[in-house]
Amino acid sequence: MAEQQASIITVDPRYPDPTIIAEMGTAIRAGELVAFPTETVYGLGADATNALAVAQIFTVKGRPSTDPLIVHIADIAQLSQVTGYGLEELPTEVTILANHFWPGPLTLVLPRGPQIPDGVTAGLATVGVRLPEHAVAQALIAAAGVPIAAPSANRFGHTSPTTAAHVFADLGDRIPWILDGGPCQVGIESTILDMTVTPPRLLRPGGVPREEIEMMLGHRVRYQERTVVAVAQSPGMLLSHYAPQAHLLIFEGADIPATWERAVAEVAIRAARGKRMGALTLDVFAERFRRAGAIAFALLGAEEDPATVAHHLFAGLRMLDDAGVEVIVCGAFAHAGLGLAVRDRLWRAAGGVVISPDAPRPSGDACKA
Ligand code: TXA
Ligand code: MG
Repeated sequence: MAEQQASIITVDPRYPDPTIIAEMGTAIRAGELVAFPTETVYGLGADATNALAVAQIFTVKGRPSTDPLIVHIADIAQLSQVTGYGLEELPTEVTILANHFWPGPLTLVLPRGPQIPDGVTAGLATVGVRLPEHAVAQALIAAAGVPIAAPSANRFGHTSPTTAAHVFADLGDRIPWILDGGPCQVGIESTILDMTVTPPRLLRPGGVPREEIEMMLGHRVRYQERTVVAVAQSPGMLLSHYAPQAHLLIFEGADIPATWERAVAEVAIRAARGKRMGALTLDVFAERFRRAGAIAFALLGAEEDPATVAHHLFAGLRMLDDAGVEVIVCGAFAHAGLGLAVRDRLWRAAGGVVISPDAPRPSGDACKA
């Protein structure tokens, strides 16, 4: 681990300084860790072909070695370097999705190639691969000349980072370099699609909506919402993940406005008892939460615009923690588009506990706060 604090190096997100990128590429090749922006969240990068460098990722994040990493490539030709496929052997559906959605927030799980060490894939026969769209990520991978293994640059289990300051708060005392390219545009991680099964299976909803994938493929993909598995069994579907420090209460139900009303009522009850309440809120409910006694709110945007909600979600959770609230409330979101990923992240951030219309009101004593 680094003895000094991380150096934060600011780069233009669209036209990063080639000299800085070349230096960071050299650092990656030398086995060092470099945190960098992608369009989804900040990643903690290491040379994916260097087992020792990859092992450091797990150490600094406190991540179990059973949870595999996504390998980031700079162009589609690099696929043959990391997977078991030659370029002319790619299955038709992989070619369709790669050509349409890359560069972008889609990770494809494919057979793993021999250059990728066990540590990257947790010994699995498959590897998750993604070609990110962010100019800094692309330039860094190209400059490094090797594929880059990168998880989200947060402490394991904590809320994912969408700014360099978030990375510094979690890992600033443990890594040498943070490339600061400003806030991430998408704000939640890539969609992960397992292409080694038929039909493909959605393992994690994310920046590319399920509907768009199904439209390109011309058929449905498999997806089971809110699947929970032990990390050793199958990765990527852990229950407690993305969690803030505060206790997060999410309200569920088919009548979405009613879930927000319940959240407002909950704030009123707990604020009256002296709890420091925060709200992760649609813009239209912010004033209601304020009048109910919430001391902080993170604005997520409008219900009909889940991409904006996704963009603000993780930053909002971190902001409410920084504001020192004990309990955070949030209402429900529809499944369509990026709403599916928003629902997934909130559910896991709440440790899989939802408050549904017919459930008894959550007890104050059950609160961590
Ligand atoms: O948007 C993203 O995907 C970001 C940026 C940095 O690219 N990365 C990211 O990595 O979210 P991470 O490590 O936080 O989440 C990757 C997930 C893990 O839950 C892991 O279990 C799953 O991908 N995963 C990786 N390789 C896999 C594989 N071969 N099979 C199934 N799941 C895999
Ligand atoms: Mg992560």
